[in-house]
Amino acid sequence: MAFVNKYVLSILVLFLAFYYYSEKEEFRPEMLQGKKVIVTGASKGIGREMAYHLARMGAHVVVTARSEETLQKVVSHCLELGAASAHYIAGTMEDMTFAEQFVAKAGKLMGGLDMLILNHITSSTMTLFHDDISHVRKSMEVNFFSYVTLTVAALPMLKQSNGSIAVVSSMAGKISHPLIAPYSASKFALDGFFSSIRNEHSLMKVNVSITLCILGLIDTDTAMKAVSGIVNFKAAPKEECALEIIKGTALRQDEVYYHNSPWTMFLLGNPGRRILEFWTMKQYNMEKFIKN
Ligand SMILES: NC(=O)c1ccc[n+]([C@@H]2O[C@H](COP(=O)([O-])OP(=O)(O)OC[C@H]3O[C@@H](n4cnc5c(N)ncnc54)[C@H](OP(=O)(O)O)[C@@H]3O)[C@@H](O)[C@H]2O)c1
Ligand SMILES: *[C@@H]1O[C@H](CO)[C@@H](O)[C@H](O)[C@H]1NC(C)=O
Ligand SMILES: *[C@@H]1O[C@H](CO)[C@@H](O)[C@H](O)[C@H]1NC(C)=O
Repeated sequence: MAFVNKYVLSILVLFLAFYYYSEKEEFRPEMLQGKKVIVTGASKGIGREMAYHLARMGAHVVVTARSEETLQKVVSHCLELGAASAHYIAGTMEDMTFAEQFVAKAGKLMGGLDMLILNHITSSTMTLFHDDISHVRKSMEVNFFSYVTLTVAALPMLKQSNGSIAVVSSMAGKISHPLIAPYSASKFALDGFFSSIRNEHSLMKVNVSITLCILGLIDTDTAMKAVSGIVNFKAAPKEECALEIIKGTALRQDEVYYHNSPWTMFLLGNPGRRILEFWTMKQYNMEKFIKN
């Protein structure tokens, strides 16, 4: 028993030391200067704010969503703000062929890719779940499966650039809430998939970072309309939220938490899970998967 305690304690100390030192680097806007970035779901809300921040930092941006008209406006504002270049490609992420071709086209437009920001979601209303299986399927397709498709298409370019992936998720991808079962399922799926891929990258020395972003309620028009009359959590500002996602992704953090209350962030951190994952990773022998 004493041995086990000592063992667990030393892992905990090592882990905390690692955690503390690995988050030391400071963010500088110049980190994004000249970087080639894709932002999905960028016609409004948090996605649009991210495009504007990236433009101010002098990045190249390619934005996407379905509505061409609004994307056009976002692109011209990006150019006014100082983007190195700005383009849009309109289409729906219900269509995996579009998702795949979108990444190829964006890569061609910018001549490579440094950062893939996955942010779009299909619209959904807060309601009791009865039998709307088609909405569950659509949420999984648009909010989860298209993220996988976009990632597969982008990984060759991201490996070349030692790039980064941001996966925009939610509190609802870490803890349960009523009235949003299909959305919540798709956000939990993102954690399972992308955290596993992050482990693989770490074990196989693939230098592409994956940043899962856990957001509380943010004051976008869509979210404010969705929660109106149902919950009254205080919403945090979308501009700052967008900046925090970019910062954490540029610093190659595993996760970003953005929420009004620091207590929520502290409790969501889930040290139990982190310690178990850290320890589990130590048990793997990956020799079989290393190509000679
Ligand atoms: N706002 C919040 O309170 C909150 C909280 C936690 C997490 N989040 C997360 O933050 C991210 C952004 O949320 P938001 O509030 O900024 O959303 P939003 O304002 O509603 O923006 C959603 C974006 O996705 C696009 N989109 C919708 N359906 C699409 C489709 N089928 N194919 C391609 N693009 C599509 C929309 O443009 P088009 O309609 O033109 O296609 C729009 O650009 C999401 O991942 C969300 O889960 C938000
Ligand atoms: C990517 O990282 C590797 C290893 O650190 C380095 O040798 C290489 O030059 C980097 N490539 C780019 C494009 O930064
Ligand atoms: C991974 O890439 C980043 C960004 O280019 C670089 O700062 C870092 O040193 C690289 N890490 C390794 C282990 O190659």
